[in-house]
Amino acid sequence: MYKTCIEVDSLSLHRHKLKKLCISLTSQSDHPLLVLCGTKNKITNSEHWIPKLYFRIASCLLSCCDLKCRVFKNKLIFTKLSSCFCGIIPPVAQQLHRENIQRIVREALSLSKVSPSELSAIATTIKPGLALSLGVGLSFSLQLVNQFKKPFIPIHHMEAHALTIRLTNKVEFPFLVLLISGGHCLLALVRGVSDFLLLGKSLDIAPGDMLDKVARRLSLIKHPECSTMSGGKAIEHLAKQGNKLHFDFKPPMQRAKNCDFSFSGLQHVIDKTIMQKEIEEGIEKGQILSSAADIAAAVQHTIACHIAKRTHRAILFCKQRNLLSQSNAVLVVSGGVASNLYIRKALEIITDATQCTLLCPPPRLCTDNGIMVAWNGVERLHAGLGILYDTEGIRYEPKCPLGVDISKEVGEAAIRVPRLKMKI
Ligand code: KG4
Ligand code: ZN
Repeated sequence: MYKTCIEVDSLSLHRHKLKKLCISLTSQSDHPLLVLCGTKNKITNSEHWIPKLYFRIASCLLSCCDLKCRVFKNKLIFTKLSSCFCGIIPPVAQQLHRENIQRIVREALSLSKVSPSELSAIATTIKPGLALSLGVGLSFSLQLVNQFKKPFIPIHHMEAHALTIRLTNKVEFPFLVLLISGGHCLLALVRGVSDFLLLGKSLDIAPGDMLDKVARRLSLIKHPECSTMSGGKAIEHLAKQGNKLHFDFKPPMQRAKNCDFSFSGLQHVIDKTIMQKEIEEGIEKGQILSSAADIAAAVQHTIACHIAKRTHRAILFCKQRNLLSQSNAVLVVSGGVASNLYIRKALEIITDATQCTLLCPPPRLCTDNGIMVAWNGVERLHAGLGILYDTEGIRYEPKCPLGVDISKEVGEAAIRVPRLKMKI
């Protein structure tokens, strides 16, 4: 479907830290849609997180009568602009975004050979995320909206994640979605384009955030095989060489019969274990433990079991309440952590046991990207939902839950999850 994939520019302000600015666009369109989305991410070179700003800009093809087909048949050019703001204070990064955003949109439009007047709508992520990045994206979009007199489609970042699968697979509503990344962790029932029931979420940090912290604590950036990988990827890579049985970390929240998650307690236990091992091995913080691979394997196994168990309960809850199709229940898993094959296998055990179909968007679409926001715009345009012709009073929302939160009801159902052998 995607015929071309080109790196447009690489603006490296810091060698090791990559900040992504993405533009994705399609060409030969009757009704293009320009999408601007801003979200937060984190980068660090120490124990402290430094906010990382994201902007993704996409223009997507669509035809109002036969929307999906047109998107599928058309050529899609995906361009990426990378830069980095490591060590730069957010207002400076914000200024850089301001300066870049105009050029990026110009390049996107010029590459797609689409003039702004030909756009059918402008879609922009306005919630949730880092205020500074959402603000730049929104104010720039509104300028375009007013200048070219286009309808505006505000996008919820998580909704965009959840719907991406419908770009590549024929998935009907309702379906269950598990979003696991560096910034999110939630389970939701998707009943329609903008109709979500939130079944559970992380009470503290996201699994990718935790894996990044553990990888940093293990100094995996100094490991010759892992130095260029994200924290989560480094843990997955090293875990293959380790023995998970050498450490016994307990999956969190074993007694809470709901679908919420927690990772920070486990992370502290792991931190303590690493400190103890450093003393035992007589090495300084910052050097790589001989048991790093075993720790990675045990950490990966523990979070895989935790995620699988909460997901298992969500499936059982939905089945019990008849919220999912009895004959063709679908679980969609997305977000950066979903590219972890060990975690996917753990989820496969659950979907096999519950006769569900497990679907993951391709890794490139699984993570934060412009295409998912573009697709969300297409879905909304198609459904005639949330298309604004008057943007008066529109605001970005740094915090915004997804859908109707029924996690309390899920907890009250106190569903027992049968024990499954997690032989991965
Ligand atoms: O969705 P994403 O690109 O961005 C947001 O967090 O919003 O996800 C990035 C996260 C990082 O925390 C990274 O460590 C994690 O996904 N990740 C992985 C893997 N690849 C990336 N976690 C586990 N296993 C992987 N293979
Ligand atoms: Zn995201």
